[in-house]
Amino acid sequence: MSIMNRKHIEKGNVLVTGAGGQIGSALTPLLRSRFGAANVLATDIRDDISPALREAGPYLKLDVTSQEDIRRTLEKHDIDIVYHMSAILSAKGENHPQLAWTVNMNGTFNILEAAREMGLERIFVPSSIAAFGPETPRDRTPQETVLRPKTMYGVTKVAGELLCDYYVLRYGLDVRGCRYPGIISHETLPGGGTTDYAVEIFYAAVKYGNFTCFLKPDTRLPMMYMPDCLKATRELMEADSGRLEHHSDFNIGGMSFTPEELAAEIRRHVPDFQIEYKPDFRQQIADSWPRSIDDSAAREEWDWKPDFNLATMTEDMLRVLGERHDRGALGY
Ligand code: SER
Repeated sequence: MSIMNRKHIEKGNVLVTGAGGQIGSALTPLLRSRFGAANVLATDIRDDISPALREAGPYLKLDVTSQEDIRRTLEKHDIDIVYHMSAILSAKGENHPQLAWTVNMNGTFNILEAAREMGLERIFVPSSIAAFGPETPRDRTPQETVLRPKTMYGVTKVAGELLCDYYVLRYGLDVRGCRYPGIISHETLPGGGTTDYAVEIFYAAVKYGNFTCFLKPDTRLPMMYMPDCLKATRELMEADSGRLEHHSDFNIGGMSFTPEELAAEIRRHVPDFQIEYKPDFRQQIADSWPRSIDDSAAREEWDWKPDFNLATMTEDMLRVLGERHDRGALGY
């Protein structure tokens, strides 16, 4: 069937790569409730993914850099839909550029190739605000703009977007993706990103009442709360393909704030909260990224609209982490 005619996918076997990561660990349970736990295969290269994730449905250790393993897994489990969430993020990618290229590029290529060969229904491959660079307009960054990132992570995200769109045009594969901003969540800590401070600050506020930030106080970055990230992912994957003019590179906006604005918001709930600033190499990465995002294409083509702002996200994060801390289960 041409992708122009496909509408919602009601059932199918789903595979998630990077299921133990920050987004994967929240997305997998959502997919399991939507498609049935037995129909969602969680995969990750890590051994330490949470027992909850491993026990709630099928789980397999999978290295996305192995084309053979990917092909065999997709075939064996009769997979229809893939959420390809595994990646090396920006800061870790600067410490290990070759690894970032291998995991991010070869992983995406392997998934797309196997999907093409097997005629999979639909693939989700996320991109990031890291696709932009210092020459990109930084305020209300347009959908169509300069893509000259200076991090290896960003290079792989731009190349990944182009590769995904190539598979859409050339092979009619239904590949979709959006440029996630920094994602804030309370299940699994992110690892190796430049926006990670905006998650850790909450754990530190709840546990210690103070935080040392690796970015300068006035560094404004686009961010999004996990419920909105999941909503965007679900809505884009369920969008009517006939309405989509873009495929793998949707800008999506949530909120934008600086570390000092976030600290001030936290102080409304934790009045004695202290923050100090010790910028490191991640500052330069942050300075090359947008301050805010124009997401009108996503709004027009699949009705994107975030629910959370800085105040409602902060309140919810502190409530959830505070309750967990009171139970002695913060794990930070
Ligand atoms: N959160 C990511 C990072 O900081 C951006 O996509 O690397």
